[in-house]
Amino acid sequence: MTVHIGAEPGDIADIVLMPGDPLRAKWAAETFLEDAVCYNKVRGMLGFTGTWNGHRISIQGSGMGMPSLSIYANELIRDFDVKTLIRIGSAGAMQKDVAIRDVVLAMTATTVSSPSRGILKELNFAPCANWELLHAAWNVAQTRSVKTHVGGIYSSDVFYDERPDLNEQMTRHGILAVEMEAAELYTLAARYGRRALAVLTISDHLLTGDVLPAEERERSFGDMVEIALEAATA
Ligand code: ADE
Repeated sequence: MTVHIGAEPGDIADIVLMPGDPLRAKWAAETFLEDAVCYNKVRGMLGFTGTWNGHRISIQGSGMGMPSLSIYANELIRDFDVKTLIRIGSAGAMQKDVAIRDVVLAMTATTVSSPSRGILKELNFAPCANWELLHAAWNVAQTRSVKTHVGGIYSSDVFYDERPDLNEQMTRHGILAVEMEAAELYTLAARYGRRALAVLTISDHLLTGDVLPAEERERSFGDMVEIALEAATA
């Protein structure tokens, strides 16, 4: 049991999928896992372990933003020795050719700051995905009808951004989408020698103002979960 995760050693699998929303963790566990058991309810940040295609898998909510994700990823890695961490979540598109419902596999994650800034200081560290996972996820995505992009994303500290000039620079530099967690996940995975990837579904578009209709969110989320499960166990 850690400060934020009320599990015993062995309760959590080597592979953990991390949606931001704990209720998405519950939905994904009930939809995709067999014999799912809830191991964490502390602060309502639900975590489940079950099996998928014979592989032991956990699904743990991360909360929104890098400070929250950092707490859960640190404890999963340092206290529960988790080896593979895949963020599954939504993102806002920043390029014209990235559309609502598309999937983005984040090769790199640019930031202005992250919880790791304190130790990295003046270093502009380049957080990047694990190649094995990225490659496997790309191969899985090719077998599905969902359009998939691979490239850089922006992990922002703000959802209600008062700096449109920064977003413009991201678009200008080819960044595909914005979300709020991946850069810290990739940095922690690099620090502790673990595998990490972010598989994202486009839920809104910063250039066009398009938004994914609420009734379609579940289906789009399902594609992303399956890509993550297959990539993690490939
Ligand atoms: N996640 C989904 N859409 C987002 C956006 N527009 N900004 C930051 N995070 C997001």
